[in-house]
Amino acid sequence: MTATLIDGKAVAESVKDKVKEGVMYLKSEYNVTPGLATVLVGERPDSRAYVASKQKACADLGMNSYGHTLPADIAQGDLLEIVQGLARDSNVHGILVQLPLPGHLDAEAILGAIPIEKDVDGFSPLNVGRLSMKNREPLFVPCTPLGCLYLIESVGTKIEGARAVVLGRSNIVGLPMAFLLLHRNATITICHSRTQDLPDVVRQADIIVAAIGKARFVQASWVKPGATVIDVGINEIPDATKKSGKRLVGDVDFDAVKEVAGAITPVPGGVGPMTIAMLMQNTLTAAQRAAGLVR
Ligand code: GUN
Repeated sequence: MTATLIDGKAVAESVKDKVKEGVMYLKSEYNVTPGLATVLVGERPDSRAYVASKQKACADLGMNSYGHTLPADIAQGDLLEIVQGLARDSNVHGILVQLPLPGHLDAEAILGAIPIEKDVDGFSPLNVGRLSMKNREPLFVPCTPLGCLYLIESVGTKIEGARAVVLGRSNIVGLPMAFLLLHRNATITICHSRTQDLPDVVRQADIIVAAIGKARFVQASWVKPGATVIDVGINEIPDATKKSGKRLVGDVDFDAVKEVAGAITPVPGGVGPMTIAMLMQNTLTAAQRAAGLVR
């Protein structure tokens, strides 16, 4: 292995330690306990696991979490009422509606019921708009791309002037990631399913962020020697050597790419823990803002 392994778990722990200090201070000095409401609709095992991790992180850091687990066939109006109730509840500083929602629900209308100051996911059009513009500050930056940025910076990769390739153009990861890197003066290419000559495009990159949901897709021959590779993918593949019969891999062919890259995140233990740490940071910020302590 030539690449530096980027230990997302360790970086996330250090972020969470700082958040915990902030939570303790807010409690002792202002009698405010940050509160995160989680809204989970349906039975998707991956969504259940993510929400459980978010609730556990709240408990570990001394925050309150208010879990709402709802049936997959809930009516739009009923879900909207629940989110509107959370919007009015002054103990709730952040609201997280786990995505994707079942197909019959209008996700845009549901997310639209989250006030911008409780939008700890940073998904509201106002937050996204500010993130995309020059010299504007969103109230919150989406957790996964913000975590990726921390990881890139944690190994001292220079972003200014770097060529960065973002694989994937989702609202949750690819698009906000591209803006975060752009605002730090990288030259950005966003690739997607219709990109032509993908390996040649990726080969230009000093920084690669892969968020496409395709197991071990990015090949070693596509990676410039020394590049920093951030793998957002979480894909299940069959593995007969495991009791469960499966294991998780990223969007990058880790075993081969680690021999070429300068730095690389593993899956699991890379970006995943950072997403949760950033959510905790955003929830603390929301509570500090509600108490008038930060802008
Ligand atoms: N689904 C996948 N990632 C996320 C996330 O960061 N937030 C929410 N709410 N749903 C997700």
